[in-house]
Amino acid sequence: MNNFPLSVRIKSKVKETPLVTTFTFDYPHRAEPGQFINVWLPGVNERPMSIAFDDGKAYTISVAAVGEFTKLLGKKKVGDMLGIRGPYGQVFTWKPKQRIAMLAGGYGVAPLYFAASRALKDGCKIDFFHGARSKDHLLFAQHVPKLKNTRYLPATDDGSAGFHGYNVQAWQEELSKGVAYDLVMTCGPEVMMKVVSDRAFEYGIDAQISVERYMKCGFGVCGNCTVDDLGITTCQKGTVMPNETVRKIKEFGKYHRDAVGRKHLY
Ligand SMILES: Cc1cc2nc3c(=O)[nH]c(=O)nc-3n(C[C@H](O)[C@H](O)[C@H](O)COP(=O)(O)OP(=O)(O)OC[C@H]3O[C@@H](n4cnc5c(N)ncnc54)[C@H](O)[C@@H]3O)c2cc1C
Ligand code: FES
Repeated sequence: MNNFPLSVRIKSKVKETPLVTTFTFDYPHRAEPGQFINVWLPGVNERPMSIAFDDGKAYTISVAAVGEFTKLLGKKKVGDMLGIRGPYGQVFTWKPKQRIAMLAGGYGVAPLYFAASRALKDGCKIDFFHGARSKDHLLFAQHVPKLKNTRYLPATDDGSAGFHGYNVQAWQEELSKGVAYDLVMTCGPEVMMKVVSDRAFEYGIDAQISVERYMKCGFGVCGNCTVDDLGITTCQKGTVMPNETVRKIKEFGKYHRDAVGRKHLY
């Protein structure tokens, strides 16, 4: 891990969906699934991004163009330089041969794809419930179905691919049929993860949940990413946390705070 940005050169750039672009660059520090980095564009700002893959030499990040920083990042070309620091944060964990439900939404599919590819090496079996508003927005839909021992279960709000509705509903159907899971991992919109947290608790299934808050330093100094009313820094104690901890975070699923600490309701 390093706390000062290292300059890296973009090796490849792939347009994945109308909103998301994936970048690859060599980086000297190795990462585990669930960790994130801070990406620096000199003269603009720094922003946290999940590590979508680490192949032992290079990192991959998948960036949704939602605001000034991410739109500028999306315009960077192969050969352009970025500043990178990290990796930071906690990791997804599993035991060999576990049956795992993964619930992903938005760019949350990226760290879960990374986790799936590692967990499969330990003999795990995965049901991958992938939610998006429509078929075009199913990020990594060309990669996840190729994973071995993985049932790929897409769900779209408009019914253009897979289950017509939310991925949490598709998961609930499997639970109702009596499919038993040892572990649930989730990363995506917080309203989705709140349902996952509640269902996992009801069914007595261990769950690991990625709680993202507005981050500045990324390593526990600025305090911007603390949550009510535990007061823990999500950059250090998370983003991946056990459901037991997440259920003590009163703001989880209700609100989050911005760069100056103002509350925003979900
Ligand atoms: C741990 C972590 C991992 C992330 N991984 C990814 C990823 O893999 N791919 C991806 O596309 N996005 C990821 N994000 C979100 C990404 O950091 C924001 O979308 C980005 O910072 C938006 O910046 P902007 O200037 O483009 O947009 P803005 O208009 O500044 O912000 C748009 C929204 O993004 C959020 N945001 C802005 N700045 C931050 C910040 N410093 N920390 C957290 N949220 C912020 C706010 O909710 C804001 O409303 C991650 C966020 C966190 C905390
Ligand atoms: S981002 Fe600064 S303490 Fe977490």
